[in-house]
Amino acid sequence: MFKNKHFLTIINIFLTIMDNLSENIWKKHISVLLNELVDSIEIFKGRQNIVVDCTLWMAGHFIEVAKKLNTWDIIIWFDADIKNLWLAKQRITDSLKNINFIEKKQQEKKDKINICLINDNFWNIKEQLENRWIQKITWIYYDLWLSSLHLDEADRGFSFMKEGPLDMRLNKSKWQKASEIINSYTASKLREIFLKYWESSQANKISHKIIELRKKKKFETTSDLAEIIPGPPKEKAKIFQALRIEVNKELEMLEKSLKEAIELLEKDWKIFVISFHSLEDRITKQIFKKETRDCICNDLICSCHHKKTLKLLNKKPILPSENEIKENPRSRSAKARAAQKI
Ligand SMILES: C[S@@+](CC[C@H](N)C(=O)[O-])C[C@H]1O[C@@H](n2cnc3c(N)ncnc32)[C@H](O)[C@@H]1O
Repeated sequence: MFKNKHFLTIINIFLTIMDNLSENIWKKHISVLLNELVDSIEIFKGRQNIVVDCTLWMAGHFIEVAKKLNTWDIIIWFDADIKNLWLAKQRITDSLKNINFIEKKQQEKKDKINICLINDNFWNIKEQLENRWIQKITWIYYDLWLSSLHLDEADRGFSFMKEGPLDMRLNKSKWQKASEIINSYTASKLREIFLKYWESSQANKISHKIIELRKKKKFETTSDLAEIIPGPPKEKAKIFQALRIEVNKELEMLEKSLKEAIELLEKDWKIFVISFHSLEDRITKQIFKKETRDCICNDLICSCHHKKTLKLLNKKPILPSENEIKENPRSRSAKARAAQKI
């Protein structure tokens, strides 16, 4: 009896903390390029729209998108982080009334916005949708990068400013931890990732330093790594970012996902991608560019038979306004690209 009471008290404390935590982080959170993203969405009244939010987190974009949806539409949410998906579900349940959570397309209701939550990396988009009997989508958007919660939580290991395990996995049940990479990759492999994702002249020096130091003691915490990176905090941030990209295979995931998303899009419908660093933006730009061309082999007589599938909606990337940057300095590095299936 006592044990049960004790257990319930702990659960109540936990729920109260979670309520406060979610309320506070929601208040602090500002979605980037919100108006630009929402303005680009066209919802058709006479049919069912199937919209995919690939990076849900606080659902800041989704809450505004939802205002445009028909009650019979379907929205698919992806977030690789189960905790973020769970917090967003709480937020949506509190702020929207006519919603219906579904597992498969057949469970949809005509008088509700039908929401399907998927706790997976968006690189699995095609397989996940096919499993749910969805072959075509009408609108898809990505708001890449981490959530602020990831950087604030020391035990996730994303920030060099917080002492914690050197982990960095978005989905804790998958991939190698950052510490496993640091403790096992060869010097040339480490140099390669630091060069590729960090683009720094110090890549060689740091990778050799890691190899020397780990002979004496394995790297386990964020400070074990942060302490050996010389220079200003910006340099530490860059190397942590390079490692995070490698841990979560971010660029490969994005490339595969974008290609599948374009395949899944119905004719005339749109894709919108917000990125925060040049490597992600470069991948989006290259894929979009390739899909706007009829031939990509450049042979005198075309041998690739590639047919264009996209029309760019903006020649130059969409950038945040000065006002948005003033209000939310984090938006400074955001760039968005939008395209339409043809
Ligand atoms: C910048 S936040 C999205 C914010 C959201 N659009 C809003 O306005 O509230 C990015 C989210 O995407 C998730 N994420 C990042 N990479 C992912 C991936 N490859 N697959 C699925 N989710 C991912 C992160 O866990 C994080 O919750």
